Amino acid sequence: MRVLVTGGAGFIASHIADALLAQGDAVVVLDDLSNGVRANVPAGAAFVQGDVRDAAAVDLAFCALGAPCEAVCHLAGQASTFRSFENPAWDMDVNGVGTARVLEGAWRHRAHTFLYASSMTAYGQPETLPVVESAPCAPVSFYGITKWAAERAVMISASQPGTTLRAAAFRMFNVYGPRQSLTNPYQGVLGIFLGNVLRGEQIRIFGSGEQSRDFVYVGDVGRAWVSALHAPPSAPLAINIGTGTSTSINQLWRHAVRASGHDPEAWPVSYEEGRPGDQLHMRADISLAERALGWRPKVGLEDGLARTAAWARQDVAGS
Ligand code: NAD
Ligand code: UD1
Repeated sequence: MRVLVTGGAGFIASHIADALLAQGDAVVVLDDLSNGVRANVPAGAAFVQGDVRDAAAVDLAFCALGAPCEAVCHLAGQASTFRSFENPAWDMDVNGVGTARVLEGAWRHRAHTFLYASSMTAYGQPETLPVVESAPCAPVSFYGITKWAAERAVMISASQPGTTLRAAAFRMFNVYGPRQSLTNPYQGVLGIFLGNVLRGEQIRIFGSGEQSRDFVYVGDVGRAWVSALHAPPSAPLAINIGTGTSTSINQLWRHAVRASGHDPEAWPVSYEEGRPGDQLHMRADISLAERALGWRPKVGLEDGLARTAAWARQDVAGS
């Protein structure tokens, strides 16, 4: 299958591109390198440097393999809750208009499958945990609003009478693993903590640190995308991708320090004001992913952290 992977120079999408190539699919990556790096794009993929909001760049990417791409994994966008408060209009533009442009490209080039990187931030503060997909969505950040709006655009697009487009939106929980930036404050918390420890820096906690997240390993996330691409749900579906377990940020920093070979009790940590839009507790109900895709996570946090810490040591040593 010819697959367009947007955001493939970034953390999650580069793993999806790798997994697709490994099973014989042809891949085009479209990325403007605003937050990703060229080195993350797999050698076997075609690469178009461009903005998803630019219809010409989207067309170029769709046709980069000669015949048009048949399927799209759309992950390009701005991924930081915190950053969405610094510039809400830009967040809405990149995540909202960007998704609409890629959808329009899928219509023009008659793609049959569209998978979208939605987020648990769509839920806001759920009343009940683990949260199920049928729970109300009431996002509490600009980022959560744009992820949910874009998800709805994808769902509506695949629900139009006569359409042949199949779609799924993955409400991914907190994804971690190799290639999560160790220096970029706009990528996820585990990469930031591992980078802090490897550079001997103080760890910063926003709020009490008692907020909790459902951390899911990037390799497991990649498997979910690849299964859905090859057997998409017959009706458009939003699907949680998490583990069903949660870890507080206080537990996480201690794990990160320990996995890097240090004593958490001796590590410097500062507690700072909480950030806007920060959700308190999150944990996924993952039964729909199992029913719809036959997917379950395989890598637990201890194992995933050890793999990520090993990668981080090599990455820092090599840079
Ligand atoms: P990332 O920043 O590593 O990847 C995003 C990529 O998109 C980057 O390479 C960036 O350069 C590119 N990009 C940004 N704006 C672009 C534009 N206008 N045109 C073309 N390319 C552009 O982030 P990530 O953590 O890999 O997240 C990927 C996607 O998954 C995002 O859409 C994010 O909202 C979503 N998501 C991430 C998580 C997570 O835990 N990391 C969880 C849920 C959803
Ligand atoms: C993360 C992802 C988002 C995704 C969502 C889905 C990033 C940047 N964010 O959002 O794309 O949609 O998961 O689950 O990848 N924190 C600290 N100290 C730090 C950094 C963070 O205490 O140095 C705290 C934050 O305040 C927050 C928690 O750690 O409470 C997680 O933060 P972060 O990784 O930025 O992610 P989310 O906002 O949960």
